[in-house]
This record gives sequence, structure tokens and C-alpha cells, in this order.
Amino acid sequence: MFDCRLQRLKRATLHAIIFLMLPLSLSAGANEAEIPDNVTQLRQLAQLAEYIGVDYAEAVKNGQVINDNEFQEMVEFSQLIVSKSSLAATADAESLAVQAKALQRAIHDKKGVDEIRQMSASLRGTLLGLMPHLSLPERILPQEKIRPVFETNCGSCHGVSGQGDGVLAAQLDPAPTDFTNKERALNRSILGLYDAITNGIDDTAMPAFQQLTEQERWSLAFYVGGLAFQSSEPTHNDLNITKQQLINYNPLQLAAERPEITLQSIESLRANPSTLFKAPQDPLAITWDRLQAAQKAHQKGDFSTASELAVSAYLDGFELIENSLDAHDKTLRQSIESNMMALRQLTSRPDVNGELGALMAETRHLLDDAQRLLSESTLSEGTLFTASLVILLREGLEALLVIIALTTVLIRTGRRDALKYVH
Ligand code: HEC
Repeated sequence: MFDCRLQRLKRATLHAIIFLMLPLSLSAGANEAEIPDNVTQLRQLAQLAEYIGVDYAEAVKNGQVINDNEFQEMVEFSQLIVSKSSLAATADAESLAVQAKALQRAIHDKKGVDEIRQMSASLRGTLLGLMPHLSLPERILPQEKIRPVFETNCGSCHGVSGQGDGVLAAQLDPAPTDFTNKERALNRSILGLYDAITNGIDDTAMPAFQQLTEQERWSLAFYVGGLAFQSSEPTHNDLNITKQQLINYNPLQLAAERPEITLQSIESLRANPSTLFKAPQDPLAITWDRLQAAQKAHQKGDFSTASELAVSAYLDGFELIENSLDAHDKTLRQSIESNMMALRQLTSRPDVNGELGALMAETRHLLDDAQRLLSESTLSEGTLFTASLVILLREGLEALLVIIALTTVLIRTGRRDALKYVH
């Protein structure tokens, strides 16, 4: 089993080296799109750091190596992180390298598992801080929808209930992960699981599941990430944990960072994450998210997706607050609306005159203004007075119309005698 893993690692090293040379050789004037994304590099480093946190307990105990192959793997992983992070093209490459070297040293000195986990977690934290915001899933599929997807695609190896005991499992080396292993799950982030599902794991039987949609892959990551835990009570998310935090950090790390929250409630949230996805999203945030996604698709030359997203930015976002914004500032509403129309047109074809960037920036400002206006929820006294007056007048007018109608009917039907009752 371990030979296999080491081989996988060596290939990963080779990939890493090729990967790092690439930007150097392409940097001058080459096609930007082909340069491997810096984010991919950072995600890989984060994944390696996480594996150290997960597997170290099998390598060292009480300062002694208990499994030499596992220990070699730790040594090589940390070496890989050191060499990659010193080359990573980030502003913080230096502090990253310092942390990486400290972790390498600690592994070399066979420090305790808690210390190693803490170091790998904080290294991961630094890496995550360097990444731009992930595009997070807006919704995940409910358990009853995702379970069959898991059973069909994953059950043959991981077992239908995720215990690593599928029909193919006995032949596989390394064996498929047992998702009900709590010790492991406590050290695994949803992001790490998502990346494994999306990219597969080199030199193991774990394939990449690119054919599944992004939503299905996130849903699966949450699904397998929750199998080791039990939802103790209906989870109200009054824990104030954001989606981003639950995705980025493993439960142990999250508990360490937020001492006011018990590990048990974090476990409960991992078992039942749907509460995180119920919070109604702010339409203006949706508008901006979709516009950004449209811009990204446009950059890739995928104009039909881009224009679909730009339309959705309007329909699922801005349109929902149009009326309330109108009440505050009609001109602003009109400017945003016309910018969004221009964006819909621009994203649906090549950007020959390079207008898209500027228009996006301008729209961002307008949306910020709208946000500010709408969040000034406390109405001034003047506004309240005017509003009351308008209501009074409108109700008065309605009453007047009713009386006029009644009077007309009585007069036309020759029942003038009944008019006194109307009065
Ligand atoms: C052909 C067998 C096979 C299939 C099918 C398969 N896996 Fe895996 N998977 C593996 C193996 C083997 C590993 C362990 C690799 C290792 O130890 O590095 C693994 C590892 C993983 C991991 C990493 C777990 C961790 O804690 O590091 C995740 C997540 C995962 N699989 C999810 C899935 C999901 C979700 C599906 C279905 C969509 C799936 N797998 C289908 C064989 C498979």
C-alpha cells in the first residue's frame, strides 16, 4: 500500500516541478490563459498541508516513528510544501516559506500530533487567506437527492453507506476512504473533499468526477463530510459560522479558532449543513456574484454562459429590489438598469473595444451606492410624516369615490330621499 502512495507522491513532485517551471517559461508575453492559475497552486499546497494533519497520527506516536513509510510520506510532503511555497508567486511567499520550514522541522523532530496539526492548520490558514474568495455553492442538494448520486457513483468503492467497503474495495490499494471514520473527518475540510472529488487523487483508484455538475460535487463533499457526525439537535445556525468558514476549515481547526463554539455543535452543523444554505441571500450580492461569473465566462470565450449569467444577475438579483430602490432614488435605479442591459449585450459577444472592465467597475460603484441607500433602514421623521400624509390622502380619496358612486346611483334611480343616509 505504501509503495503505491510513495509512487503517487513522486509523480506529484514531478508535476509540481513542471508546474512551477511553466510560469517562468511562459511569462514573457505568452498567452496569459495558459499560465496555470496561481490559485490552483495554492489549493494544492493547502491539500498537502491538510494531508499531513490527517495522516501524521499514523506515522509518529510519543516521539517515535511507528510506521516508517507513513513517516517518509510526511517528510516528503513537507519538503514538497517547502519547495513549492518558496516559489509560489504570492506577495507572502516569504512568510509562507517560514511556516513551511517550521512544519518540516517539527516533522523531522517527530513532534506530537497536536502540534503538527496546529502547524498544518495555520499553514493552511495562511494559504486560504491568499486565495481570492471561492465561488461558493449557492445551494446544495438535499440529502434525499444526493444519497442516490453517491450510491450510484461512489458506492462500488466507498460502499453505499460510505464505510469504505464497496464491492471493489478489497482489490484496491490504497483502500477507499471510510467516511464514517470520525478521527479522519475531524481533520478534513469540505474544500479538501471537494478538491479530491473534482480532481481525483493521482495514482489511486479515486477518479476525477468532472462529469458531475459543480453543485453535485459540492453536495457530495458536504454529504461525505457529514457521514461521520450526528446531528444532535435541529441545528439553528445561530453559531454565526459562515459557509466559507465551514467549507475552508476542518472541525478541529474551526473549534480552535472559535473557542465560544463547541466542537459538538460544529459536528452537528457538518452533519446537517442545510441550515447554512437557507439564509435568504441579499439580491444585490447575487447581482454582483452573477455579474462576476458572467465576466469570467466571457473571459474564457464562453459567451452563451456569460450572457445567461448576466440575465440571471438581473432576474434573480437586481429585479427583486428594483421597486424599493426606486422609492429611494429613481435615477440610480435607472443607471443600474441601463448598465445591466449594456452588460448583457457586452457579455454575449467578444469585447472588441475593451469596454467590459470599465463598465463592471462602474456598476460595482452603483451597486454599492444602492446597498448603502437600502441599508439606511431607519426612516427620518420627515419621511415618516410624508408617508403618513400620502396614506391619509389616498384613503380619503378612495372613500370619496365610494360616496360619489353611491350618490350617483341614488340620484339616477330617483331615490334622492335616501341621500341623507349616505351623508
Ligand atoms: C473506483 C473506486 C472509487 C470510486 C468509484 C470513488 N472513489 Fe473516492 N476514493 C477511492 C480511493 C481508493 C480513495 C483513497 C485514496 C487515498 O487514500 O489517497 C478515495 C478517496 C476519496 C476522497 C478523499 C477522502 C479523504 O479523506 O482524503 C473523497 C472525498 C472521495 N474519494 C469521494 C468520492 C466520491 C464522492 C465518489 C463518487 C462520486 C468517489 N469517491 C468514488 C476510490 C474511489
